[in-house]
Order: sequence, then structure tokens, then C-alpha cells
Amino acid sequence: MPQYQIAHSPRLSGEVSVSTAKNAVLPILAAALLTPEEVIIHRVPDLTDVKHMEHILRSCGAETRRQGTDIRVRAQAVGSPRDMEEMRVLRASVLVLGPLMGRTGECLFSMPGGCAIGQRPIDLHLKGLQKLGARVEMDGGQVRVSGTLKSANVYLDFPSVGATENLIMAAVLCPGVTRIENAAKEPEILDLCRFLSQMGARIAGAGTANITVEGVETLHGAEYTPIPDRIEAGTLACAAALTEGSVLLAGARSDHMRALLFKLTESGLLCQEDARGLRLRGRARHPMEARTLSYPGFPTDMQAPLMVVATQTHGLSVFLETIFENRYMHVVELKRLGAQIRVEGQLALIQGGRPLNGAAVTATDLRAAAALMLAGLVAQGETRLSDPAGHLMRGYEHLEEKLRALGADTKKLAD
Ligand code: EPZ
Repeated sequence: MPQYQIAHSPRLSGEVSVSTAKNAVLPILAAALLTPEEVIIHRVPDLTDVKHMEHILRSCGAETRRQGTDIRVRAQAVGSPRDMEEMRVLRASVLVLGPLMGRTGECLFSMPGGCAIGQRPIDLHLKGLQKLGARVEMDGGQVRVSGTLKSANVYLDFPSVGATENLIMAAVLCPGVTRIENAAKEPEILDLCRFLSQMGARIAGAGTANITVEGVETLHGAEYTPIPDRIEAGTLACAAALTEGSVLLAGARSDHMRALLFKLTESGLLCQEDARGLRLRGRARHPMEARTLSYPGFPTDMQAPLMVVATQTHGLSVFLETIFENRYMHVVELKRLGAQIRVEGQLALIQGGRPLNGAAVTATDLRAAAALMLAGLVAQGETRLSDPAGHLMRGYEHLEEKLRALGADTKKLAD
């Protein structure tokens, strides 16, 4: 079981490179199912979620090969995933639904489970595909989606990231023009569409709420390097803000991080863009208010890491989590370290200015695991983070090593 030991950290300083974005790589790998030709994705991070997605692609009949940090995928003949169990392990495996519907007109898969942060339904994915002409049949815990898709205008009741991605991938081979309204605008959507365009897809409006897809006959292979991970960069920025560091996040795209950087700047951190990435100096001092929203609002994935920063500011911070119904599980663990936090429904009140003291804590989900590692940096004494489900390695490429490279005393005790 992965365990991490984190000692109270000196000021972090130096330079660290930001990995490519997990939430761009996963849909881009799924999109490789849309062509029989080889696709090469560069700079793929070493994450458990990526390994799971590779397994799902192979389970759909594709060949995948890792060469250094490249992943090569060739999906000559594809079909529904054979390994239904794996579908339950990785929530993002639902992203093979759109490509398989676009390519073969059928997909039988097991309902992806919820996870710690919420039910994670896929009703918007299924409703959108039905609008495109698909039949949806529930068969026990399995879902059969089938039919020849036809272009249509789809309106998303909520700008779901995954539903937007699935509908774009379902529509790229569908004759006619499909419109997706109230689409998600996250940078990872734009990145997926850039990749699909390099494969020959015709997409307009990516990154806005209104996306149009003009179907083409076939898509060809492509090579692609995804965008940097704005959530990893944001997590490292919070580490700098906690330790009054002086840090360069090489490769960070500050234009993808505006909401977070406004919060950290308002709180006292100095953020400066330069040709190499994002320079951060000083520390966060003033309490903050954060309401999680769809992009370009404040990202829900940054709620837990920023809450740790709030515990060290002088005053009362107020957070409102509006995206997931159960995304405060890190609060119980932060309170073991002495944090003064009160949760009332989707509201969290963080009384800052109190020192944290090292203790044994447990990771409950991916971003909670990162938040607890950050908390260990400012806690007096030693913090031991247990991560029985291996959450941290799902979404961060050796975070403890990156923090150590900046001067933190963090080490992984066990795999
Ligand atoms: C993506 O998840 C990200 N994952 C999440 O990152 C991120 O938190 C989320 O978008 C929001 O930004 C990947 O990209 C792989 P949604 P996704 O569909 O697509 C509800 C991380 O830590 N909803 O935008 O699943 C849903 O329950 C992960 O890296 C429906 O009700 O997010 C949630 O409350 C966590 N019906 C809200 O919408 C649906 O059909 C946002 O979900 C779909 C979603």
C-alpha cells in the first residue's frame, strides 16, 4: 500500500517541469479508436489512469505500445471492451463510448461505478447519443448503445466535460453537421478537438459553449503532444504559496489557470509569466472565497489543494463546491492535522492562521491525496500519508519527487 512521509518543509525553490494533462491524455487516447491508422501521443505521463486506459483500448481490440514517453495506438478492428471489470476501475473508460459509436455503431459496456466524490452518472452522455439516433438498452449492470448515428442539435443540460467529449467523438464520423450547445469549455476539450482536427475531423467552436462538428468519411493517423496539466501546475503553485517559496513551473500555461492564479494573487502570492512558464514567489496571506464552477470558473479539482492554502491565511475563508456532491472528504483528514474547518452542505468555512501538526492521514480520492501531501509540508513534525487505493499515482506523475526537487522532505515509503 503506497505510503508517503512528509516533513515540515523549508521554503521551496527551484524549477520543476509540468507533465502533460491527465484529463487531456485520457480522451485523446480514447479518440485513437476512431481511425485504423497509427496514432502517436508524445510526452504521456506515467500515471495509473493512463495504464488503465491503455488496457481498455486493448480490450476494445486496439494495439498499444509504450516507447519511452510515447504511446502508439493502432485500432485496426475495434469492438466493445471485453474487460468489463476494467471499465469499473477507470471512470474515464466511458470515453470509449463516443468513438465506438462513431466507428462501429455499437458499444456494450458496464455502467461505470461512482466514486468517492460523487455518483458520477452518465445520463447526459446517453441522452446526447439518443438525440444522435442511438438506442440505449439497460441490461443488468450493462448498457448497450447501438444504431447508425445521424447529425442533430444537442443541448447539454449541464456543461459536462465527459459528455461533451463523447458527443464530439461520436459526431466526427457522422454525416451532416452536429451542434452541441451548452458544451463544456475546458482547455482539455479544445486539446481533444485539436487532436481530432489533426486526424482530419472538421470541428468549429471548440473551447466555446457552441461546438459544431461536420462529419467526415474517415479519420487518419496523427502525432500529438497534449497540453500541460493545469491541475498539477496549480497543485505545485499551492505548494509554493504554502512555503513562501520561489518556484518556476516550467511549461505551465497560465492562460489555463486564470481563476486559480487570481485567488492566489489576491491572497498575496506573486505570480509572473515568462517564456519558460510560471514563476511564483512569496506566500498566500489573506483569506479567500472560492466557488467551484465549470471552466473558466474556479476548477473543482483545485478545491482541496487550495483549501490547504486557506488554512494558513489569516482569517475566515469560504468555499462553495457546486460541481460534485461529495468533494469534502479531505476535510476530516485535514482536521486530524489541526485544521479548523466546518462543512455545512456544499459550504466549507476555513478558519485560517492556526498551525498544523503532523499526524497519520489517509487519502480518500485523487485531489484529497495531493492536498494532504501539501498539508504535510506546513505541518509541524512529520506527516504520514497512507494511500491504500493508490489515488495519488492515478493523477500525479511522482508528485513527491517533484516536491523533493524543490527542497521538500517528502519520500515514498512503500509501493
Ligand atoms: C472531468 O470529469 C474530469 N475528469 C474531472 O477530473 C473533473 O473534476 C470534471 O471533469 C469537472 O471538471 C476527466 O476529464 C477524466 P463532468 P467528468 O461530466 O467528465 C454531473 C480529476 O480529479 N454529471 O463535467 O466526469 C457529474 O455527476 C477528475 O482529475 C451528470 O449529472 O465531469 C458532476 O456532478 C475528478 N450527468 C458534474 O456533472 C452526466 O451525464 C460534472 O461532471 C455527466 C456528469
